[in-house]
Amino acid sequence: MKKMKSWLKTGSFNEKDEYYTPKILVEPILKYLKPNSYIWCPFDTEKSEFVIQLKEAGHNIFYSHIWLGQDFFNYEPEEHYDYIISNPPFTRKLEVLDRLYKLNKPFAMILGLPILNYQEIGNFFLGKDLQLLIVDKKVSFDGNTASFNNSYFCRDILPKGIIFEHLENNNSRKHFIKSRMT
Ligand SMILES: C[S@@+](CC[C@H](N)C(=O)[O-])C[C@H]1O[C@@H](n2cnc3c(N)ncnc32)[C@H](O)[C@@H]1O
Repeated sequence: MKKMKSWLKTGSFNEKDEYYTPKILVEPILKYLKPNSYIWCPFDTEKSEFVIQLKEAGHNIFYSHIWLGQDFFNYEPEEHYDYIISNPPFTRKLEVLDRLYKLNKPFAMILGLPILNYQEIGNFFLGKDLQLLIVDKKVSFDGNTASFNNSYFCRDILPKGIIFEHLENNNSRKHFIKSRMT
């Protein structure tokens, strides 16, 4: 428990930040977005499956990434955008969530469901609007069996508070298709 709390607060497991979202986990959010939207993907390069899939679905994408000198905590596109969608660095979840609510835009972020177990997270969400798009598989990011469920934490995107979505497979073993951002 002590180790988990330090992970949430200080980001001591920084290697966890470099897991790239597979295509199968981008797909469930697509049907909830208005057509031809303008979307900011703030933790993504042109090879991110978010950028690729959202563009293919007809949306207009602004992507940014720390590798491109664009730090989410002090960068924002100058152009109008409708949504912020991505998978953030796991070790900075609370800071990312805090900035997302301050930016005051609809968002959908991939986060591990186990974070709901922690008091810091419950305390953070007190009095805030939160929607969950929960997939019915523990999707693998690296081909190995995943130990927990990563799903979408959203604001002002879903038609109701909690929605479950079916996935054909969990992207592990014979089903594994890696992100092109890898
Ligand atoms: C969990 S990965 C996900 C990457 C991509 N969004 C995806 O879903 O495949 C998070 C990414 O955010 C990047 N990152 C870390 N801190 C950042 C910051 N302050 N601003 C922008 N990107 C950051 C990391 O280097 C990492 O590549």
